[in-house]
Amino acid sequence: MPMYSEEDIDEVRSRNDIVDVVSSYIQLKRKGSNYFGLCPFHSEKSPSFCVNQAKQMYYCFGCHKGGNVFTFLMDYNQSSFPEAVEELADKCGYNLPKQELTVEQKKRQTKKTRLSYLYKDAANYYYSKLHSNVGEVGMHYFRDVRCLDKETMRDFALGFADGKWDSAYRFLRDKGYDDELLKDSGLVVFDEKKGPRDYFINRVMFPIVNERGEPVGLGGRVLDNSKPKYLNSRENELFLKRKTIYGYNIARRTRRDMYILCEGYMDVIALHGAGFDNAIAALGTAFTKDHALKLKNSGKKIYICFDSDTAGVDAALRAIGMLRLLDVDCKVITMGQYKDPDEFIKAEGSEAFEDRIKNAENSFIFAIDKRREDFDKDDPEENNRFFRNMAGRIALLKTDIERENYIVVLSERYGVKSDSLRELIRDVSKNEREMSIVRDELYKGFSEDDLRDNSSNAKEDIRGPGKRIDTKKKSDEGLRETEGILLTWLFEEPRLYPVISKYVSADDFQEGIYREIASDMFKAYDSGGEFDPAQIMCNFEDNEAHNAIAKMLHTKIEGIETDRDKEVLLRETLIKLKNESLKSVDKSQPEAGKKIRLIKEEIRKLQTEDLL
Ligand code: GTP
Ligand code: MN
Repeated sequence: MPMYSEEDIDEVRSRNDIVDVVSSYIQLKRKGSNYFGLCPFHSEKSPSFCVNQAKQMYYCFGCHKGGNVFTFLMDYNQSSFPEAVEELADKCGYNLPKQELTVEQKKRQTKKTRLSYLYKDAANYYYSKLHSNVGEVGMHYFRDVRCLDKETMRDFALGFADGKWDSAYRFLRDKGYDDELLKDSGLVVFDEKKGPRDYFINRVMFPIVNERGEPVGLGGRVLDNSKPKYLNSRENELFLKRKTIYGYNIARRTRRDMYILCEGYMDVIALHGAGFDNAIAALGTAFTKDHALKLKNSGKKIYICFDSDTAGVDAALRAIGMLRLLDVDCKVITMGQYKDPDEFIKAEGSEAFEDRIKNAENSFIFAIDKRREDFDKDDPEENNRFFRNMAGRIALLKTDIERENYIVVLSERYGVKSDSLRELIRDVSKNEREMSIVRDELYKGFSEDDLRDNSSNAKEDIRGPGKRIDTKKKSDEGLRETEGILLTWLFEEPRLYPVISKYVSADDFQEGIYREIASDMFKAYDSGGEFDPAQIMCNFEDNEAHNAIAKMLHTKIEGIETDRDKEVLLRETLIKLKNESLKSVDKSQPEAGKKIRLIKEEIRKLQTEDLL
């Protein structure tokens, strides 16, 4: 797992012009200040893939993928971040330092980078412990109890934390990491009386690695039945559990067209060991909407293979709901008598698992079959309710064809006449209340809005019969567009900054990526510098953030011909932004009244003053 300094990464980036790099893969044609070509990430007949030299970014107006040179190579070649850096360094003849950074060099890096180095050193430390004499118990556990081979242990960089009080602490301190960083890493606990001690003692260790292949945390498992079975290092700037997918860095490169989504570390590792290089797991938390969005963006199918117990089935139903809501093709792999895929593989081997993949169940029918178990089959009243529930679910499907296909299969499966089912669907879909209950049940209370955020490229037209008209979504998307227009504009015409900064600050932007980018841009302009979005991108590790930044800085501004048009639109945009800002003032805060007066005053000025 090589890592490079921010200086080197930036040097490589600035020596490789994005137009040159992209043109070596796809044909581009110049159109004004942009270059256009056919998007390599989705199939299309007319070019919507746009490369912008000034921004050093690309963005596809069709599938909404975007980023800088590194993102492009990672997506195009399915490679890791360090590989993308190496490829571009080779291309421009830049010598990346092969040896480690010195303590002094490390101290100059940002906190995120320092944490990343720290986890890398820690992972190496635990890895070498596993392969030393003290690690024999850990080795015995992985080799003999969990039946892992050497390659699998190496691929996942598995390790061992010994039984001493503070050996990892002393090792890391001697490497030059200060106590504050060690505390934030969650690898060391600082007790007021007893002093520093290792968080992981006598555990086998699992480095947690991000999509770029950089360690962002560690997990540790006990060797016996004691509790807690697993511990994870702390969340921080680098590590957010709800966004992390274990095994994704390896699985991203699979040739298979689906991911196998399981529950635990050991499931992923056992499946990889058995030749399923597409296994992944949500990490130590339930499956979240961030996981769902990430998987949607991958474009692959998802085969859910959770534990066979009730908790596993409930978690599977939740994941199915979110994935179906996002239009992700998902299926369910069941394992019968076995607790989880790890046990299945050990008992039945990989061919049997391959069969399970072939026979994976339809997730919509899986959910209905599970729901069936809640109704008493001998009671006609309960049967009636079950069929209404099923009819409601079918009514939520998006197209007639889909509904018709399921009517045929389900009427057969549950022994009802298909015409009776059709009639029931017509009846239930007219009942708003009943439909809203079924919707909540199927989608676990999530709505399309909940799942869609500014990093999503979900289709806009997810709509079933009886769908509520959602005004909130419209206004959120409208607002994002307003913010995008302003930022795109400011980037393209920095001379507008003095005007705009009289009325708005970064705090007027929605929290999240939009505000972060606004804040970086305003800071750069305040100090008289330039804003370099392709560089800022390197601070965001996941490709979804790159897509979102590219999207925000490619918001099209339509219908401006004259300076007068420009002024009208600018005024409108700024007022919209201020009005949103006004709405979002927290009225329970002591300064709220003052804030509101201030914003209202600014809006009044915006309505009357000359802008250009
Ligand atoms: P093995 O017993 O090692 O095979 O683990 P498992 O994956 O079969 O265990 P289980 O189904 O109990 O847990 C699934 C996942 O939940 C694990 O991989 C962990 O990520 C997480 N997990 C389980 N137990 C704990 C715990 O005590 N604390 C935390 N934080 N996470 C846990
Ligand atoms: Mn297990």
